[in-house]
Amino acid sequence: MDVSGAHKDRGELRIHENSDELSTDLADYIAELSEVSVKERGVFAIALSGGSLIRLMGKLCEAPYNKTVDWAKWYIFWADERVVARNHSDSNYKLAKEGLLSKVPIVPSHVHSINDSVSAEKAAEDYEFAIRQLVRTRIVSVSEISDCPKFDLILLGMGSDGHVASLFPDHSVLDEKDEWVTFITDSPKPPPERITFTFPVINSASNVAVVVTGSSKAEALRSAINNVGPECSSLPARMVQPTKGKLVWFLDRPAASKL
Ligand code: 6PG
Repeated sequence: MDVSGAHKDRGELRIHENSDELSTDLADYIAELSEVSVKERGVFAIALSGGSLIRLMGKLCEAPYNKTVDWAKWYIFWADERVVARNHSDSNYKLAKEGLLSKVPIVPSHVHSINDSVSAEKAAEDYEFAIRQLVRTRIVSVSEISDCPKFDLILLGMGSDGHVASLFPDHSVLDEKDEWVTFITDSPKPPPERITFTFPVINSASNVAVVVTGSSKAEALRSAINNVGPECSSLPARMVQPTKGKLVWFLDRPAASKL
């Protein structure tokens, strides 16, 4: 693995030779953050995304992590979710359930998925309400700077257009400052209806990791990390800038080929 400090303001870059190496490093990183958080706060509040991320987290279900991680202390959230039934093939919950949550001893009541029987607008509202309750009891910490929830770790993927979570280029929700969770009904990546954390929440996290693989993402990654290209400052991936938290990029060689 190459660890580059060349783009310090854009976080740490961990460039891997293959997805096996990346998966092991990602599992080590998550297990370590979980340990630190459980030691400091007694719990670990982690937000997932959809896409290839869950497959790349797969090593967590294997030895040694399946035995060494304190799964009972994990609280699971989604940085974004598609507004479909929980058993729908598009559901990020279903993806995570089948790929991870069903394979490790996570407490079912600690898994905070969206209300899948209401509109996108109501689902976003309900999800924010649920997070507010958990902030009140400090299961989710709070940022003293922004008053937003401070997740111990938010895991993001990135699309080839530079989107993260369900924050797509040029969308008005990129500027959302008040809501913690918002909704869209016009996602360019199907399905169209989604809820998503907003940037104030993403950037209030203690740790944010963006996991990006494949050559189709190389150009957007270059804009996001090297700050080049048209309108790079409003590229969603570029807007991931934790205020006090730590940002780490998990990349493979093809994704990193234009850096
Ligand atoms: C979603 C995601 C989305 C995803 C990226 C990258 O629900 O669609 O959360 O933000 O992480 O599109 O997906 P891939 O890693 O599969 O390219």
